[in-house]
Parts: sequence; C-alpha cells; structure tokens
Amino acid sequence: MGTEIDIDDTRQLRDAFGRFTTGIVIVTTDVGGERIGATVSSFNSVSLAPPLVSFCIARNARAMAAWETAPGFAVSVLSRTQSHLSTQFARSLGDKWSGVGTRPASCVDAPLIEGALMWFECETYARYDGGDHLIILGRVVAAEAGRSVEPLLFFGGAYRHLAPRMEHEHVSRDDMWLHAW
Ligand SMILES: Cc1cc2nc3c(=O)[nH]c(=O)nc-3n(C[C@H](O)[C@H](O)[C@H](O)COP(=O)(O)O)c2cc1C
Repeated sequence: MGTEIDIDDTRQLRDAFGRFTTGIVIVTTDVGGERIGATVSSFNSVSLAPPLVSFCIARNARAMAAWETAPGFAVSVLSRTQSHLSTQFARSLGDKWSGVGTRPASCVDAPLIEGALMWFECETYARYDGGDHLIILGRVVAAEAGRSVEPLLFFGGAYRHLAPRMEHEHVSRDDMWLHAW
C-alpha cells in the first residue's frame, strides 16, 4: 500500500510528478534578434525515424509568443556542473544571458549553451495542446555531443547527480531493440 495522492491538490500533484527523475535542458531560440531561453525538465526523445524530440512550455511563460511561432530551436542538455544555469534560465525576469557562454547553432536560429552534455538543433515539427502547457515537437536536424558525460538530474524538486553504474544490471542490447531503443 502506498500513500494516496489528491490529484485535485496542485501541490500534491506537482510533488507526484516530481517523483519521476529527469535530466534538465535549456531550450533556446532567436526570434527577431531576441534570444529566448527556458529551463525545462519536460524534454524527451519521441521518434527515431524521423528523429523527433519534445518539450512542454507553460502557457504563462513570458516568451510564449516566441514559442508559438519559432521555426526552430536548440536544446542544450545540462551537465553535472550547470545547475546555476538551470536556475538562471528558470527566472522569468532578469537577464538570463548574463555571463553565459554561447555560440550560434549551425542549422537553426538559436544559441547553444557552452559546456553542455549534448546539443540538439531542431526545426519545429508540430505544436499540440497540452492543457496549461504547449507541447512542442522538434525534428532534429543536427546533434553534437559535448565533452562532459555527467548529466545534471532533477528529482523531488532538487538537483541530483548520477550514482555510480550498477554492476551486472545492464539493459541488454536485445531488450533495448525489442522496444525500438
Ligand atoms: C528544474 C526546472 C525544470 C523546469 N521545467 C519546466 C518545463 O518543463 N516547462 C516549463 O514551461 N517550465 C519549466 N520550468 C520553469 C521555466 O524554466 C521558467 O518558468 C522560465 O522562466 C520560463 O521562461 P519565461 O517565462 O522567461 O518565458 C522549469 C524550471 C526548473 C528550475
């Protein structure tokens, strides 16, 4: 038996969703010369062929108009030492870009965050209603791996780091391919 969650209680629901561990990415775009960026934990891979990823952005995000129109965006997957960037890009007000090393993406109009674990450049593929969020699907047109191999994790409302690999607990290649992974 577990503890029943009252899904009508926003706090409880948020905490329940927060029990699902994620990485953290910063999604960025450039609309009319203005750089846009937001921290999101709702990033996911969606499809291999075509290569698709998704994220959800709150309808009340200040940059919602940009996300509703941007033809493309970039995803910078944060590495272990970048929690300060996660915090910085989660602040609606203030200069998100101050002191942040960036370089332009090669295929889309968006900045890439230096020091990330992985970068994806995406053309906006579809937008869907996601309740109080907008679901954005991107078609990956370029990807680059960074030097870091240690991700920043998010669990229970707090930043976490990976624990060492579990010995003898590898997912076999066969099991992964069965599920198209
Ligand atoms: C760890 C973490 C994960 C977040 N994940 C999301 C998310 O998936 N979707 C979202 O809309 N906001 C998310 N946020 C909040 C946004 O980063 C924040 O509201 C951001 O400032 C929105 O940008 P804007 O209001 O300047 O457009 C997250 C914040 C943190 C700290």
